Amino acid sequence: MIAKPALSIALLCFSFTAQAQTKLTQEQQLGRLLYQDKNLSTNRNQSCETCHALTGISHDATSQSTPAFVDPQNSKNGTPVSLGSIPYATGTLNAPSAGYAAFSPIFHWDETEGLYVGGQFWNGRAADLVAQAQKPFLNPVEMAMPNEWAVVSRLKENARYARLFLNLYQLDLNAVPHIKDALFQQQAPEVVSDIFQHAAQAIAAFEKSAEFNKFNSKFDYVMAGVTRFTALERQGLALFNDEQKGNCAACHPSNISTDDTGKKIPPLFTDFTYDNIGLPRNLNIPGTPEPDLGLGGRADIRKIDPDRAELGKHKVMSLRNIAITPPYGHNGVFATLEQITHFYNTRDTLAAVPDNRSPGFGISGWPKPEVGKNVNHDELGDLGLTAAEEKAIVAFMKTLTDDYPEWGNDPSVPPGTQSPFTVDIQ
Ligand code: HEC
Ligand code: HEC
Repeated sequence: MIAKPALSIALLCFSFTAQAQTKLTQEQQLGRLLYQDKNLSTNRNQSCETCHALTGISHDATSQSTPAFVDPQNSKNGTPVSLGSIPYATGTLNAPSAGYAAFSPIFHWDETEGLYVGGQFWNGRAADLVAQAQKPFLNPVEMAMPNEWAVVSRLKENARYARLFLNLYQLDLNAVPHIKDALFQQQAPEVVSDIFQHAAQAIAAFEKSAEFNKFNSKFDYVMAGVTRFTALERQGLALFNDEQKGNCAACHPSNISTDDTGKKIPPLFTDFTYDNIGLPRNLNIPGTPEPDLGLGGRADIRKIDPDRAELGKHKVMSLRNIAITPPYGHNGVFATLEQITHFYNTRDTLAAVPDNRSPGFGISGWPKPEVGKNVNHDELGDLGLTAAEEKAIVAFMKTLTDDYPEWGNDPSVPPGTQSPFTVDIQ
């Protein structure tokens, strides 16, 4: 956590301005096309959207579905990891939401706090969205393209891309030979990496659009004074914030922050730091991968972390849309919000069970942590919450689902109501 004073919600005031422009720029439109293009995977069967959907699965019988930017197969079936472009290829980590990811600062060491902050991925190894968006194309358990030139050759097949790259970036796709015409051992033309990098830039621009960053959950309208929490939700937020109770806001801040220009940013429910909350291993991941060492497992961090102080730490993820993004945690070991909340409350007080396949998992006990080093015992693990208090915290987290005007059935926030915030992302 970052040791910032928690602001009281009652003291906050908001600017009621029109919602951020939802029309996409030309670069964002290119980004959207790339994000959805299955031709950019080796078997032409997978795009970013496959694992970070732009349309939702219904989370409530009466509701319109809200996009959660996760793998719908996982949220529907409870499977922890996604399938790749190549049959039977699977990763070892649960796909986090691409929604609100744009707010993660560039990965850095914070001198004042003495901890790592920001970056993309569970271990922060991509500094920002542009670096992140280049990885899935070439990842053998994801889109599995052999190299950048092969990706650029797929781009070349689409005349619309050729036009857009020329207009936006003065890069001529037609001037690059297709990789299938390459001579034996021919090096990729220099411009290839430039084109590849700009494709990632366009995707990142799209991920910064209002489509991924809606700020129109019930929570946002309550903060703006437009509607009210139920008694249970209000109790849940109080417990979430209370350092003597849930203490969730220590790492998932629920208060307004201010950007460099003094503008108010609604809470993202993450401080973008890293922690080992003692997640048990998930034996349901195909191939039972080795324990994931997180931030401290990165080669670059390992070199400068002789005490292994970062081992087992993963990025604190945003809790926006959390109700519709099961399963939970970097390895998807928790099936429900009730279960992960019970874990925070009783990790250190329940008995032990051998693993997450034991019938007593989460009922009579918890397995040992995936990585035993650096488990946080100061802020979580034995919260002393009653069952009713756990329930209230879960009820509160369910207010963080976007598109509340559409699914909330709340006369104070009719369908089409705009977000109370204007947030631009640089
Ligand atoms: C096969 C499924 C799959 C595909 C395809 C895929 N991703 Fe992901 N994505 C994941 C997984 C799994 C992670 C977490 C991996 C890790 O942390 O090492 C992830 C992480 C991310 C993150 C980091 C979020 C955060 O808060 O740290 C972003 C952003 C993202 N993906 C965007 C994309 C984009 C853009 C594409 C297309 C270029 C893409 N993904 C393609 C599965 C996928
Ligand atoms: C010390 C920091 C810290 C505190 C306190 C904390 N969390 Fe977390 N939270 C994390 C980290 C780190 C992760 C990711 C851990 C992982 O996957 O290994 C996480 C993950 C989660 C997730 C799953 C996110 C996802 O995308 O799968 C939920 C839900 C969650 N926390 C809810 C809570 C609640 C509720 C509380 C209070 C009872 C709480 N957290 C307290 C650090 C914290």
